Amino acid sequence: MTRIVPVHSADDPAIYEAARLLREGELVAFPTETVYGLGANALNAEAVAKIFAAKGRPSTDPLIVHVSDLDMLRRVPFDLPPAAEGLAALWPAPLTLIVKRPSVVPTLVSAGLDTIGLRMPDHPIALALIRAAGVPIAAPSANRFAHTSPTSAQHVYDDLNGSVAMILDAGVTAVGVESSIVDVTSDPPRLLRPGGLSLETIRTYLPDIQVAERLSDVSDEAMTAPGMLLKHYSPDAPLILFEGDNYSVREAIRLEAERNLTEGVSVGILAAEEDRAALDLPAVHFIALGSLTDLATIAQRLYASLREMEQAQVDIILARAFPTKGHGLAIRDRLLRAAAGNVIQV
Ligand code: TXA
Ligand code: MG
Repeated sequence: MTRIVPVHSADDPAIYEAARLLREGELVAFPTETVYGLGANALNAEAVAKIFAAKGRPSTDPLIVHVSDLDMLRRVPFDLPPAAEGLAALWPAPLTLIVKRPSVVPTLVSAGLDTIGLRMPDHPIALALIRAAGVPIAAPSANRFAHTSPTSAQHVYDDLNGSVAMILDAGVTAVGVESSIVDVTSDPPRLLRPGGLSLETIRTYLPDIQVAERLSDVSDEAMTAPGMLLKHYSPDAPLILFEGDNYSVREAIRLEAERNLTEGVSVGILAAEEDRAALDLPAVHFIALGSLTDLATIAQRLYASLREMEQAQVDIILARAFPTKGHGLAIRDRLLRAAAGNVIQV
């Protein structure tokens, strides 16, 4: 069955055992700075196939390939267009670059595309694991398909117990939302997924970057919009997202909560510290993600809080929208997806 193994440093013996499992074609879940990943040897199609099976993920959704250092990058070799070099110099970082797929990487990894997602995670345990494995590691987020991404080893266990040999546990992840994905094969380059590296930062390297529309709800079109399913990152309970000024959002959430409670529907409210006085209502499961002035903390706690709502077995989650600067763009994207389009403008 699945073992959760605590790791405290980059030379922990558990890392070498995990690396051996990866070389033998097995799956290992490991921490990154964004979310936990479900890893397999990216050069071994049979091993990669196990990822799709374990997650229940359609083979039309491409995986990200993780490397530990520039040496590994050159050995494969991955080809970085000159325009991407400035951004790539930020690695290790919560940043995935879409580049041309080298022929040694099986097409299963890229869902048949001739491009591949490439990333060097900013986490000492992840880097040590990939280096010890000696091969690039394909890894999606280590959750069941379309469920909320895991920010702790326990989250991975809850979703994938029995289908992964080992989970390296280095505690709660620091960033809490997935990497930003930038397609540098297109001209102009495109932000395919807002994430842990802000658009503002990316723009300083790629001033002409365009933000791709990410509202497709098509489930089987890898060729046009990989991973852009609208219903993604979803908790088991339906979520309604409220957008507007602070006062109106609080009023609307309070009224909706009271309406549901009178109907015997249990309610969770996902909001900010500043909303507590207005929204920490009796009989409601209230979570303050953090202060509106600290979006990094809100991003870090978002997925764990969605999972907490599930554990509390609320029937419906009412969530407030957050400012969209910095980490806010990724927060908005994930909340929109968790809401599956269920947004109320107030
Ligand atoms: O932070 C992260 O990126 C985490 C950690 C584990 O590194 N990984 C992650 O992987 O979020 P995953 O599989 O949950 O999301 C990968 C997404 C795909 O759904 C797709 O949107 C995009 O990356 N992707 C991968 N390869 C692509 C390609 N060749 N072209 C366009 N998009 C691609
Ligand atoms: Mg994912």
